[in-house]
Amino acid sequence: MDVELRGLTKRFGSVVANDHVDLQIRAGEVLGLLGENGAGKSTMMNMLSGLYSPDEGEILIDGKPVKFEGPGDGIEAGIGMVHQHFMLVPVMTVAENVVLGVEPTGRFGHLDIKKARAQVEEINQKYRLHVPPDELIEELPVGIQQRVEILKVLFRSADVLILDEPTAVLTPQEVHEFFGIVDTLKKAGKAIVFITHKLHEVLEISDRISVLRQGRITGEGDPKTLTEADLAEMMVGRPVSFTTAKEPAKPGRTMLEMSDVTMLDEADEMLLDHVSLTVRSGEVVGVAGVQGNGQTELVEAITGLERVASGKIVFDGDDITTASVRERHKMGMAHIPEDRHKSGMVDSFTVAENMVLNSYYSPYYSKGWAIDWQKVNETAARYCVEFDVRTPSVFLPGGALSGGNQQKMVVARELERETKLVVASQPTRGVDVGSIEYIHERLIASRDEGDGVLIVSSELDEIMGLSDRIYVMYDGKIVAEFDNTGGKADRNAVGLAMAGAHEGEAA
Ligand SMILES: Nc1ncnc2c1ncn2[C@@H]1O[C@H](COP(=O)(O)OP(=O)(O)OP(=O)(O)O)[C@@H](O)[C@H]1O
Ligand SMILES: [Mg+2]
Repeated sequence: MDVELRGLTKRFGSVVANDHVDLQIRAGEVLGLLGENGAGKSTMMNMLSGLYSPDEGEILIDGKPVKFEGPGDGIEAGIGMVHQHFMLVPVMTVAENVVLGVEPTGRFGHLDIKKARAQVEEINQKYRLHVPPDELIEELPVGIQQRVEILKVLFRSADVLILDEPTAVLTPQEVHEFFGIVDTLKKAGKAIVFITHKLHEVLEISDRISVLRQGRITGEGDPKTLTEADLAEMMVGRPVSFTTAKEPAKPGRTMLEMSDVTMLDEADEMLLDHVSLTVRSGEVVGVAGVQGNGQTELVEAITGLERVASGKIVFDGDDITTASVRERHKMGMAHIPEDRHKSGMVDSFTVAENMVLNSYYSPYYSKGWAIDWQKVNETAARYCVEFDVRTPSVFLPGGALSGGNQQKMVVARELERETKLVVASQPTRGVDVGSIEYIHERLIASRDEGDGVLIVSSELDEIMGLSDRIYVMYDGKIVAEFDNTGGKADRNAVGLAMAGAHEGEAA
């Protein structure tokens, strides 16, 4: 099935999210779609899948114009979208999730789960998805959950699959497996639209690349001849530096000290297994590791989102082991959370409100009982300029921003505040190359102003590029420590430690 977009236009108030876009999507091909945060990628795909209706222009399937009144029409026509935020029901099984809404029913109208399971198994085999049909969604790793989403659209006979930043939350191993699946889909004649901010991925998997800028297609190219630098410049309109310039660190006093910290789950399994680490003022400490080895819990322990079972946490000389999240914030701890929707922002609050989410009660914004809204709004507007958060106004709900702009909003709020320690977890998730460059510069600037900076990231490049010192986590433990002054840490050695090779011989 081939699809063509002709002159597709979508406006949100004064914002022209898509401005007369022409695009071809072909069977048996992967089309890589790149563009800055807010360029209009998700909007375009939401129109293609029937979620939004275009203000102008048309969609043609195999040459015939179609009109979608809702996502039901899109899938009916064979166009399925996997959204970046999964829409699965955690307490239901894979098979139940897949058939939800289109259940094959038995003679008396009851759900024929046996038939459903069989169909799920068939698709599973055909596309080598390796999804366990009877497992509960909540028991599955993110990479597998995503395959369930893919299975779900295949179950609905989609011939065009739109994948909006599918790799943002995957580990490198999961990305590798995911590419295998994409290849199988392609060979089966499916058309695939692949959105990502990771340029090497788009070069690896795409047959064609289209670049969107400010709502318009501004470039098209052949992945065989283009480089990452070319793509970055096509996206942002200027050359982008992939490395962050920095002077050697000048570490000062100890800002954060964790001693022998443990955290347990409900079954008393160790999530954090006697973790000890330090972060000094004026240094960037990176925590590397394959996702799911305790990094999330480490950050929860430091920021106070979860209680620790034993051990001690000291922040700039004060014992904060039992301090609340707000107390830690007030003491000067910034936190960029790994999941902005879970703990970083409120979708229905305005951008301005989101920008002061954890400081509106400070004397700077509040006189007695009243919040000085003018000050809030002015500050928010300034932060937006500073971090290039693209929004027509600070009064728009945070949830209306594009994914990457939401992330920049959260990062701006945390880095603009007066702090002593920055705890940044996946700080550039979903952010375009240009803004990654800026966020990295700002993290280094925080360091140079004397903050301690702790970065947790599943992007090894990010850890290697920014950190002065690196810890590696594996199975809830810190299994290795590397000095990375002048970038001298051995990438291979870090990788080996991440794979568990150093287990038991903590540095
Ligand atoms: N529901 C909405 N209401 C108002 N504005 C919106 C809405 N959805 C998108 N926009 C605006 O449309 C523009 C394009 O957003 P879109 O989400 O398509 O960007 P994107 O290219 O997917 O960016 P990202 O890489 O950050 O995901 C942005 O300026 C965004 O703020
Ligand atoms: Mg998007």
